[in-house]
Amino acid sequence: MMASALSIAVLVVAALGVSAQAGLFPPASVVGFPGPTPTGAEPEVVATAPAAPFQSSYYPLIHPDPPADNKSFDPARYWGGLAPAISNPPDTFATYLINSSVLIPPTCELLEAHMLHRHGARYPSSSETVSTLGTKIANATATGQLIATGELAFLNTWKYGLGAEILTPYGREQLFDLGVSWRVKYGHLLDKFPNGTLPVFRTTSQDRMVKSALNFAAGFFGIPYEDQYHQEIIIEGAPAGIAGNNTLSPASCKNLLIGLTDSAAPIAKWQTIYLANATARINSLVTGINFTAADVGNMQSLCAYESVAVGYSDFCRLFTEAEWEGFEYSSDLTYWYGFAWGAPAAAAMGVGWVQELVARLTHTPLTVFNSSTNSTLDSNPLTFPVNQSLYVDATHDSFVDSVLVALNFTSFIKTGPLPVDHIPAGKRSFVASETTPFATALVAQVVNCTNASGSATPYIRWLLNDASVPLDNIPGCGADAYGRCPLDAFVAAMKVRVGEINYAFDCFSNVTIPDIVAANITNGRPPNAP
Ligand SMILES: *[C@@H]1O[C@H](CO)[C@@H](O)[C@H](O)[C@H]1NC(C)=O
Ligand SMILES: *[C@@H]1O[C@H](CO)[C@@H](O)[C@H](O)[C@H]1NC(C)=O
Ligand SMILES: *[C@@H]1O[C@H](CO)[C@@H](O)[C@H](O)[C@H]1NC(C)=O
Ligand SMILES: *[C@@H]1O[C@H](CO)[C@@H](O)[C@H](O)[C@H]1NC(C)=O
Ligand SMILES: *[C@@H]1O[C@H](CO)[C@@H](O)[C@H](O)[C@H]1NC(C)=O
Ligand SMILES: *[C@@H]1O[C@H](CO)[C@@H](O)[C@H](O)[C@H]1NC(C)=O
Ligand SMILES: *[C@@H]1O[C@H](CO)[C@@H](O)[C@H](O)[C@H]1NC(C)=O
Ligand SMILES: *[C@@H]1O[C@H](CO)[C@@H](O)[C@H](O)[C@H]1NC(C)=O
Ligand SMILES: *[C@@H]1O[C@H](CO)[C@@H](O)[C@H](O)[C@H]1NC(C)=O
Ligand SMILES: *[C@@H]1O[C@H](CO)[C@@H](O)[C@H](O)[C@H]1NC(C)=O
Ligand SMILES: *[C@@H]1O[C@H](CO)[C@@H](O)[C@H](O)[C@H]1NC(C)=O
Ligand SMILES: *[C@@H]1O[C@H](CO)[C@@H](O)[C@H](O)[C@H]1NC(C)=O
Repeated sequence: MMASALSIAVLVVAALGVSAQAGLFPPASVVGFPGPTPTGAEPEVVATAPAAPFQSSYYPLIHPDPPADNKSFDPARYWGGLAPAISNPPDTFATYLINSSVLIPPTCELLEAHMLHRHGARYPSSSETVSTLGTKIANATATGQLIATGELAFLNTWKYGLGAEILTPYGREQLFDLGVSWRVKYGHLLDKFPNGTLPVFRTTSQDRMVKSALNFAAGFFGIPYEDQYHQEIIIEGAPAGIAGNNTLSPASCKNLLIGLTDSAAPIAKWQTIYLANATARINSLVTGINFTAADVGNMQSLCAYESVAVGYSDFCRLFTEAEWEGFEYSSDLTYWYGFAWGAPAAAAMGVGWVQELVARLTHTPLTVFNSSTNSTLDSNPLTFPVNQSLYVDATHDSFVDSVLVALNFTSFIKTGPLPVDHIPAGKRSFVASETTPFATALVAQVVNCTNASGSATPYIRWLLNDASVPLDNIPGCGADAYGRCPLDAFVAAMKVRVGEINYAFDCFSNVTIPDIVAANITNGRPPNAP
């Protein structure tokens, strides 16, 4: 009786439909009685705390099992572009910056904060071959051929369960947390917005990009955030020439594809080297299927992807310390030859954002549109304000690299181009898990610093996942212990830099590169660039 009465009740509610149910669940605004709601002063922890906030956790992901040959080794720090962002130690990019941090330097006042961040952890993108490995295993399992033993025994019942492209739950958390941390660090800058003026934050139209921006907003403003800022969403993925001008994802740059396709060969070559042992070892644990080095590389990717999607992966414990170091390096190769200093259109892809940065730093609207900038958006002060104290732009991993190239941050090329037959010994200057992990954040602080004589000078300093980026190669900057550069000198250098990059040529000339490694590009421009 009870059960059938309940079933009838369920049917009745279902028949009444959603609108009738809504009456049963009125929103807070209808219910009322919110209790007292006074808010507090805006935080500015970068100016008020004695120590810098430092992010070091992947909660709630289960930490990947360390390799059998080194129990103190953390594979997650070797996931390259699939690693979750944590704070880089202060001396990551230069030893002389050991004492710098996200805290603004003494006797300085914070004027502006600019951020370019990557979306949070996602499922594999459609262009990746991780799901193909899933199908290959499913095919062998379905026919009853696959028999796995030992460390690999989990494969007998394993199923590929990842989606594609969109944020994982953990990826949403990363962006929410980034929003919270940005408010705690820089909330005070909201007080500088004139009353009635809402901040404009930008993202692009892909689902994971929009959802990253909204999760950030939920963390930064709290819910409901809709009336607290304007979210600009720039079209991404439309055919080039129709709506391809997008400084956060410059797909209109045709030669971008050269980096994408030409970087495949070096990765494949490197995989056959660093995964030779692992491929033999894993194949010795299974019958009914033959795994290639590329498949085994995808197993390493699956360790990362399953971890950030469902919290844990059995694939993680299959690999040695050296094989994880090899995996990180394969990610470094992907970015270096695909989107960074080794790619022919990297500087051009990033130059539009640098033009926008100069406009923001000088509070001068853009008037020249000769790159990936969109004149419709960028000549309108409502869609491209240049007087904000806070800027938040969301983008992709590849684009963060291209911006580092366009900004001429050459500390990343200090240890030279990347060979494909071995990992160079010692600390490397270009490491993907440090530069472009999930939710990576490149931040510029503009600060006004008073010297001993009482006069003040504005400076800019850059932080990549909380570690200062050295600017000593930029004319007029010098090697400051806090990573500062006088703002005027930095802006002057960026104007020179913008003039050096020829978007029309770099993106649209007919560049043919038979071997991207032999081409030895180190400035992110075509070999024959004027
Ligand atoms: C094990 O890993 C730790 C942490 O990465 C590292 O410092 C140490 O050198 C490694 N030990 C060996 C023997 O490789
Ligand atoms: C860092 O700070 C320590 C302690 O104040 C000091 O001894 C050291 O010289 C500083 N290092 C650099 C590179 O500035
Ligand atoms: C899986 O099996 C299907 C059907 O036989 C086949 O078309 C497909 O190519 C196989 N995929 C892989 C990755 O082996
Ligand atoms: C905004 O308005 C409030 C309340 O009227 C006032 O206290 C505050 O100073 C104003 N802020 C700015 C930046 O004008
Ligand atoms: C510029 O942006 C506007 C507004 O989003 C869009 O309608 C237009 O197609 C864009 N133009 C180009 C060339 O991308
Ligand atoms: C492969 O195995 C050999 C022999 O045990 C070892 O010397 C080498 O370091 C291993 N390579 C990798 C990348 O693990
Ligand atoms: C795996 O490779 C071996 C040797 O090339 C071959 O004999 C065997 O048929 C292959 N097995 C499968 C399932 O493809
Ligand atoms: C789009 O970019 C091209 C190439 O830089 C430029 O010629 C064109 O004016 C831009 N379109 C808009 C709407 O900004
Ligand atoms: C920098 O500080 C000086 C001295 O306090 C002040 O006169 C100047 O207006 C400040 N500059 C900016 C841009 O706030
Ligand atoms: C770019 O960096 C190089 C050194 O790496 C330096 O020689 C050059 O002057 C810099 N150019 C600009 C415009 O910053
Ligand atoms: C590139 O090559 C194509 C096909 O040969 C030609 O139509 C086009 O004009 C060339 N573009 C440039 C910028 O030289
Ligand atoms: C590659 O370029 C770098 C920097 O321009 C140079 O130092 C190096 O010798 C070049 N390597 C080769 C193999 O040409």
